[in-house]
Amino acid sequence: MLSNLPQQPADALLALIKLHNADPRADKIDLGVGVYRTGQGATPVFGAIKAAERKLVETQDSKAYLGPEGDMGFVHALMPYIFGKDDPTMGGRIEGMQAPGGTGAVRLAVALASKAGVKRVWMGVPSWPNHAQIFADVGMELKTFVHATKAGLVDMDSLRTAINLAETGDAILLHGCCHNPTGIDYTPEQWDEIAPLIAAKGLLPILDLAYQGLGQGMEEDAYGVRRVLAEVPEALIAYSCDKNFGMYRDRVGAIYVMAEDSEVLGRVLSNGHGLARASWSMPPDHGGAAVRVILEDPELTAMWLDELDTMRARMRQVRARLAEAGVQGGIDFAPLGKQNGLFSVLPLSPEQILKLRTDHGIYMAGSGRINAAGLTMGNIDKFIADVAAVSAAGEG
Ligand code: LMR
Repeated sequence: MLSNLPQQPADALLALIKLHNADPRADKIDLGVGVYRTGQGATPVFGAIKAAERKLVETQDSKAYLGPEGDMGFVHALMPYIFGKDDPTMGGRIEGMQAPGGTGAVRLAVALASKAGVKRVWMGVPSWPNHAQIFADVGMELKTFVHATKAGLVDMDSLRTAINLAETGDAILLHGCCHNPTGIDYTPEQWDEIAPLIAAKGLLPILDLAYQGLGQGMEEDAYGVRRVLAEVPEALIAYSCDKNFGMYRDRVGAIYVMAEDSEVLGRVLSNGHGLARASWSMPPDHGGAAVRVILEDPELTAMWLDELDTMRARMRQVRARLAEAGVQGGIDFAPLGKQNGLFSVLPLSPEQILKLRTDHGIYMAGSGRINAAGLTMGNIDKFIADVAAVSAAGEG
């Protein structure tokens, strides 16, 4: 039977990691997969995580099973940051469970929506390629709209039209902040318009919040999620700590459900537990436990928030430097200054992207997405000059 399986291409984004690692050039630049890098190009473990891990080693007295919901101390400790300190459960209507990274959370959210009878999901494109892959794997029909205009602004007309065309009972996936891949986020005013439209149409929001704190700040980056939840009766929220706690390979995430009341909430979660049990049984514990230890300790929390501030400040510095370059070789770098998070998309052809890789050692996703965190004050001028040269030469 197994020989019936056709060969599948490697995931393009993950394959880029290996290509970059195998490149011997000293001045190569990795702008591929979304990991934060310091001004020296490193992706260190957060100091707060190291301290929490030391504490865990000393105090953890068992590694016995927890359950499909994972570490509920971790799940609850995050809630004031996501949903607000005043009423993080929205009067007992929100509860969550741990998931293996943001991907596990999105996967579970889509599987739950499907099990509840949702057949179609609407999503702005481009998006994180794995979103469409997960919808296809779960068997949900994907309808797309244009996320951003060529001028680098949110395409509100396309979104309005999509919501208009959607049917009650469809889902809509929205990025909470730091849109992947464009870095183009909804403004608070746009969220103010979107949230009531979604509620009026009776769509199920699937809100993907994978970069909280990397955009404008922890509170600011939660605006959209909170605004939507204030309008709708029910929603699914996929959360990742992989970036804002630097836990990437430890796979630290959570899925939250907001339901119309606590009785429905309990039933939805019981389905979530069942789906998790049938997929991964229970999530990996270590990373979630380390995050919990941080959030339970005011000193470690302050240390973590400080480290997050440093990351955000560096991203702003890189973006400001890119924006300063203005138009070079026909590419306008100015809009990158206003975008949020790790990613932006440059209007390059596949041939130009390949040429940047082969001739200049610059690695970016095939969509033209760059991870701006891969740029440092030491390589940014070379990057701008190389992109300008390749763009001006007009290949493609
Ligand atoms: C990315 O888009 O680079 C990250 O979300 C990593 C991933 O899993 O794709």
